[in-house]
Amino acid sequence: MSDFTLTFPRDFKWGTATAAHQVEGQNTNNQWWQWEQTHGRIANGDSSGRAAGWWENAEADFDRMAELGLNAHRLSVEWSRIEPRDGVFDSAALERYHEMLRGLRQRGIEPMVTLHHFTNPVWLDEQRTWEDADRIVPRFARFTEMVVKALGDVCDLWCPINEPNVFAVMGYLSGGRMPPGVIDLSRAVSVLRNMLSAHAAAYETLHAHQALARVGIAHHMRVFQGLRAANLLDATVAHIHASVFNDSLFDALIYGRWHWILRRGATASARKLRGTLDWIGLNYYSRHRSAFDRTKPQSLYGDLFYTPGAQMSDFNFGEIYPEGLLMLLRKLARYKLPIYITENGLPDHDDDLRPSFLVQHLRSLWQAIQFCLDVRGYYHWSFIDNFEWSEGFRMKFGLLGMDTHTQERDVRRSALLYRDVVTSGTLTSDMVRTYTPELIQVLFP
Ligand code: FCB
Repeated sequence: MSDFTLTFPRDFKWGTATAAHQVEGQNTNNQWWQWEQTHGRIANGDSSGRAAGWWENAEADFDRMAELGLNAHRLSVEWSRIEPRDGVFDSAALERYHEMLRGLRQRGIEPMVTLHHFTNPVWLDEQRTWEDADRIVPRFARFTEMVVKALGDVCDLWCPINEPNVFAVMGYLSGGRMPPGVIDLSRAVSVLRNMLSAHAAAYETLHAHQALARVGIAHHMRVFQGLRAANLLDATVAHIHASVFNDSLFDALIYGRWHWILRRGATASARKLRGTLDWIGLNYYSRHRSAFDRTKPQSLYGDLFYTPGAQMSDFNFGEIYPEGLLMLLRKLARYKLPIYITENGLPDHDDDLRPSFLVQHLRSLWQAIQFCLDVRGYYHWSFIDNFEWSEGFRMKFGLLGMDTHTQERDVRRSALLYRDVVTSGTLTSDMVRTYTPELIQVLFP
């Protein structure tokens, strides 16, 4: 077997991603904290608690990032810290975020800042504000304005909203995976539509205050395929799932029109949303198989499964399907915008799957670049084990492990593999031999 070297662009952004509530700790003033306090909602009775202790000392992990050679990190700011009450802003919280972003820059790590990553201030949720466009859009724009004024000198790469589709589906269709934990298609639809409108308002606000702002979105996309081979109904449902879950966002933010599912109850046109992306962020994890089921109107007449016999990550979080990354990147190419992979990773407690997951996904990414797709960066989810929402701390997504009780970190082997890739800008046969030898024959027979 001959040697090989896959080379990535020189200015490529190599990073990791986190979200405020999952790592900061003590975010007591948001709806998630409240939700966690009811026993039975979070696996093992966990609650976010101290999380990874970032509010006090994110800098210790920034040092570790620098040691691994990372040059980018995506993190979110916590709305409930910055605006603890409607219209009341906390300058000390903004100053703390300024300090964190400065800390990243001082270490040669470029920050990407997400403004909304699943959590809402309690005051906002008490009035079901995401369901009311007239209330949420100006409030999100006002919050965005405060953030860009305070942090605009240390950040110009912005992601107003993380995964509007996941927020709507998990909160309003899954019946308990995320707050408010209801099953109500029309509420889900209005929340999704309002998130897209809020994104567009934030886009305008960021550009109004920062000429060089680069504003995108972190969009969760999955590969959907029919469960039963050659079954036309399954294939049709898979197509509908992909159209709603993956594509409806682009109808609004690229073309300025509502996808058919978002027209339900819409009172305003989507024209103002057109062209409000400077780049696209892809959060990619897994593939789903759709099967037709006439009794399931809430899930668009289909059920979701994993591919029978597929390799799965811990707790059946998802099928490991690296080819899907390339497939989705090729689909995104049609929008002719720069792309960042804003999340990609897996729960893998003993780190026996992650090295090969990483190698195979980075190979898909490299292939995409060979097809001349404009992919500018890769942010692995996550830097460190953290509070994985309803799964609590049992799902371990980190390149670094963390003991929830002692807060002690351990550097997993996959972190060293990632370090070797990012510091050399290459993925080589030597690295594969060192970290995941069983893949050599599979990848390069
Ligand atoms: C994504 C979320 C992120 C984390 C990963 C595993 O959907 O954006 O916060 O939960 O999944």
